[in-house]
Amino acid sequence: MIVHVFGDASQVAKAAASILSAQILRKPDSVLGLATGATPVATYERLVKLHKKGILDFSGVTTFNLDEYVGLPSDHQESYISFMKRHLFDQVNLKASYLPDGNAKDLAAECQRYEELITSTGGIDLQLLGIGSNGHIGFNEPGDNFVFGTNLTDLTQSTIEANKRFFDSADQVPRQAISMGIGTILSAQEILLLAMGKNKAEAVLGMVRGDITPKNPSSILKGHPRVTVLLDEDAASLL
Ligand code: GLP
Repeated sequence: MIVHVFGDASQVAKAAASILSAQILRKPDSVLGLATGATPVATYERLVKLHKKGILDFSGVTTFNLDEYVGLPSDHQESYISFMKRHLFDQVNLKASYLPDGNAKDLAAECQRYEELITSTGGIDLQLLGIGSNGHIGFNEPGDNFVFGTNLTDLTQSTIEANKRFFDSADQVPRQAISMGIGTILSAQEILLLAMGKNKAEAVLGMVRGDITPKNPSSILKGHPRVTVLLDEDAASLL
């Protein structure tokens, strides 16, 4: 795991956009794993700018998102499909982009379909990740074991509390999600994790210096050979 610390969040976004751009320029038919949440927004903005300037062509690129809420209408503005359309999909020329369908009738079958779809493209070249303040990656919440493949998961109370800022109240935050599993994430060739803010510092400490434990799912990333972590000073403050 290589850790870089930057003075502020905008420098993190700049570095992340550079790494993603280099990946696309090096391999125009890249398969990218993408994340939602506040963390990657400025990175997506930079990628969109590069595309609009004619510097970055996404026409060969396929994307898979980490996760999607269960039961939230896809046109709800906080569904992850809406988020991705707003911040990236509607503004660049991607070849194809996929998220799990959180409204599928058979959610277990949907998990399997999504996992197989990722495998059928040849797998993810570069996976972008944020981190929850409880150490979750995707929606792999702290627990007693690591879940391998794409799965239906219950959000923890701390995640519901953290994500209520996007909704009118905590009651409106969906209680379940479909998420890539830990094995799905670890299967990516390369992983790029971004974290900003003091509220991430403890999770980051566990990820970088702690033992591998499902109590902090991000800690498993130490077992992957190509992980780059970009932090601002606040997120790095306990290291
Ligand atoms: C969300 C997402 C994660 C994200 C994390 C942090 O609930 N499921 O993929 O990385 O929580 O979110 P934020 O970037 O808003 O802090």
